[in-house]
Amino acid sequence: MPVLKNISFLATCRDEGAQGDLHSIRDAALAWDDSQITWVGREVDLSGEYPGADQLDAGGRLVIPGLVDCHTHLAFAGWRTEEFVQRALGKSYLEIAQSGGGIMRTVCLTREADPQTLLKHCRGVLDQMVELGVTAVECKSGYGLDLETELKILSIYRDLNGSHPVRIASTYLGAHVVPAEFKGNRSDYLDLVCSEVIPAVSQADLASFCDVFVEESAFSLDEARQVFAAGRKHGLRPKVHADQLSSGGGAELAAEVDAVSADHLECASDAGIEKMAEAGTVAVALPLASLYLNQVQLQVRKLINGGVRVAVATDFNPGSSPSFHLPLGMTLLCVGSQMTPAEALKAATIYAAKAMEMDGITGSIEEGKLADFAIIDAPDPDHWLYHFRPNACTGTFVGGRQVWGQGA
Ligand code: NIG
Ligand code: FE
Repeated sequence: MPVLKNISFLATCRDEGAQGDLHSIRDAALAWDDSQITWVGREVDLSGEYPGADQLDAGGRLVIPGLVDCHTHLAFAGWRTEEFVQRALGKSYLEIAQSGGGIMRTVCLTREADPQTLLKHCRGVLDQMVELGVTAVECKSGYGLDLETELKILSIYRDLNGSHPVRIASTYLGAHVVPAEFKGNRSDYLDLVCSEVIPAVSQADLASFCDVFVEESAFSLDEARQVFAAGRKHGLRPKVHADQLSSGGGAELAAEVDAVSADHLECASDAGIEKMAEAGTVAVALPLASLYLNQVQLQVRKLINGGVRVAVATDFNPGSSPSFHLPLGMTLLCVGSQMTPAEALKAATIYAAKAMEMDGITGSIEEGKLADFAIIDAPDPDHWLYHFRPNACTGTFVGGRQVWGQGA
């Protein structure tokens, strides 16, 4: 039974209390048996029960629950570097999409890509995420938009769930944009999504959630309702890309359909926030997307004060967020969103796990949960996120097994 000792600051990140309540323990120790945490507390209280245990030393560092990236578009082919340059020259994200770039460009490349190439890309990214302390990731489809490619992408996530240490939750994002071949024929595309792809995804048990990009340039509220109704019928719970570029009632819709999370929300209305609080919808801040699109960062105080749990994720994708650096996203929240480091840590752990319905097994360090945690070379969360470095993580454990760092 392994024991990790010499932890200067252990942030348990239990759900109860406020966003900033980390329920931390100083001079702590942590024990686990196979994959589950069996004991957590002050090292002086560690009983003689563990004399023969494998003793690991955290070196006086910070220990946090494994980070959870609850919003990514992991599987795609090709980068869109030229769009990054075009935006620097003054073109907007929407202008670029309208002139042949954007999501549809990635759809074309992803349709052509063979599964092995996509799998290799995903594996490479997940390996690097693990080095940052990430132990669970939500992965969306949405760069296929036809039956065959959507199933190809979701099958890759299923393969990875069995073969990569990171825990994966999959989301079907058929309603990302109306693909070019259905231009002028939106209702036929929605029929395909609702009557063919959703049943096929559900039948093969390839996703837990379905997502809709609710936006003027993508799908309307009524179209989203249609997709979510079909999803529900087939056991896929709703998640929403809401109010990213314009205020379109996405937050209200998320509450109405009892979505697991509403993500982006930069333009959400006050009424929408109130409804999300009543419904218990988790808000997901995506600060790297706001950064890359040069948008004002989500103002989280309104959400937190209104009683909404705020999670954070990378939104990793080749267009609006070509970075998977979750700790950078956390630091950005502190700088641009008036979030404290403690709040940002709960956002990237237990609340993010809630946003992908994994909070029963991971996202906090407590007895009975899986031993998913990371060792961070900092004395406490405040100093970690303040003194930003390429990587401060020195060890990552998934289900009690070390998957990164010295000793892995
Ligand atoms: O979350 N909002 C829609 N989807 C992505 C962007 C995808 C892309 O540009 O390829 C997002 O920002
Ligand atoms: Fe997204």
